[in-house]
Amino acid sequence: MASRPRPKKKRTYAQMQTRQQRASAEKSEHRPGAGRERKLQKREALPPILIAALDVLARFRATQEPIQNIINPILKNRRFGNRDRNEIRDWVFQLQRQQSTLEKLLEQQVNAVGGVPPDRRMKDLALLLATMSAEMKATFETKTEDLLPESLLSFVQTARDEIQLEGLPPWLFEKLQNQFGDQAKDIEKAFLQKAVPAFAIDTQQADRQGIMKILEEAAIEVRPFSACPDAFWSAQHLPLSRLPVEVAQHVWPMDLGSQLIAHLVGALPSDQVLDMCAGGGGKTKALARTGCKLVATDVSNKRIIAAQKRSGLQHISFRCLDMTKPQLAEGMFDRILVDAPCTGTGTLRRHPDLLSRLNSEKVTEYVALQKQLLQQAERLVAPNGYVIYATCSFLKEENQDVVSWALENLNLSPVPLNELRPEGVLPEHQLEQHTLNILPHDFLSDGFFVAAFSKQ
Ligand SMILES: C[S@@+](CC[C@H](N)C(=O)[O-])C[C@H]1O[C@@H](n2cnc3c(N)ncnc32)[C@H](O)[C@@H]1O
Repeated sequence: MASRPRPKKKRTYAQMQTRQQRASAEKSEHRPGAGRERKLQKREALPPILIAALDVLARFRATQEPIQNIINPILKNRRFGNRDRNEIRDWVFQLQRQQSTLEKLLEQQVNAVGGVPPDRRMKDLALLLATMSAEMKATFETKTEDLLPESLLSFVQTARDEIQLEGLPPWLFEKLQNQFGDQAKDIEKAFLQKAVPAFAIDTQQADRQGIMKILEEAAIEVRPFSACPDAFWSAQHLPLSRLPVEVAQHVWPMDLGSQLIAHLVGALPSDQVLDMCAGGGGKTKALARTGCKLVATDVSNKRIIAAQKRSGLQHISFRCLDMTKPQLAEGMFDRILVDAPCTGTGTLRRHPDLLSRLNSEKVTEYVALQKQLLQQAERLVAPNGYVIYATCSFLKEENQDVVSWALENLNLSPVPLNELRPEGVLPEHQLEQHTLNILPHDFLSDGFFVAAFSKQ
């Protein structure tokens, strides 16, 4: 594979330093839907990138929907490049990691100075600025210092950088401590770091060595994951559009944890495999590399359509089905992956907004759903076939407790994960049992849990 020269980097909005450059960028936004945005800019006299970040925060407060789902619709009609979009997402996520400490500090400053209390949008602006790097904050200094009242200005000046990443909510930390004892603090720390951008490779078309060589020649710093033969990571954001085209065709962003789960299904080319909760199709695509015959189901029509598009593969059967109900023919699959809906506590590094969205009641709801899905998986798997149960949660209730319930109540028996392990995936000694719990500080992946069963 020959490499092609890297395209010239487009400057982000924030990097356009002079007033003139920014004014001309703002002026050039002649497009449908820009009218409302221009009015907002005028009213707030803020750079569009900050307005967009504030709009994302306001929508999140109002809906408590995952930030990933909010960002795209909000940015849809605004002219931002990928780097600006990533910037907005990173600011908002960083704020989620530090929110309650920062809010407390902000209230203290506001009370100390007195006067008219600032409105929510002003406070959000100050919170955003407080989480930015000094360099980024300096870019916005002249635009924001006339707008912010004295109390918020002094908050922004004192808060940034000195703030420590705060901890998990007490109910979640308590669970972590009950499960992992002395390790809990280290695990919590790992969950509060940013995730590293990880990638999967279409091994039917390319290999890791070749891909990494092209990237290194293009001066892009990447490292292989030792726990997975076809995964690599980068210390910086790597939008696919900036990668050499021969690489972009054969790689896709995917957390190492998800890649390991797909590998631990151990699918063979002759297998009929069901990806029961296919979601956006990340693991479906990874499973397809084995050449197995795949059916992918999900209760969400929107997600299953996205999964189909994402896979780009014609030979997978995508179906929108509620898999807690009897669907499809009994005993028709050799292997079933139940990548169960869960609290997602293992993905806190990539979804820090979960810190404010989750509560302990949600755990109970998920556990009920997980058991129903396993019950149907038992019906659908062939005798001696395998059921692989996975969550991206570290909570025992959703993991070991659900497994114990399945072993007691269903016609399933435990299988050592080594029986399913493809060559080079995780160290063998970690897969001697039928369950595996991985935490972010183990392999720079999300936290996840996997269990393997076979039907008696
Ligand atoms: C953890 S996500 C799956 C992620 C996906 N496997 C991937 O790799 O991107 C869980 C999925 O379960 C789906 N789900 C929830 N209830 C379901 C049900 N009753 N039947 C089928 N899928 C369901 C959700 O829509 C969600 O997409």
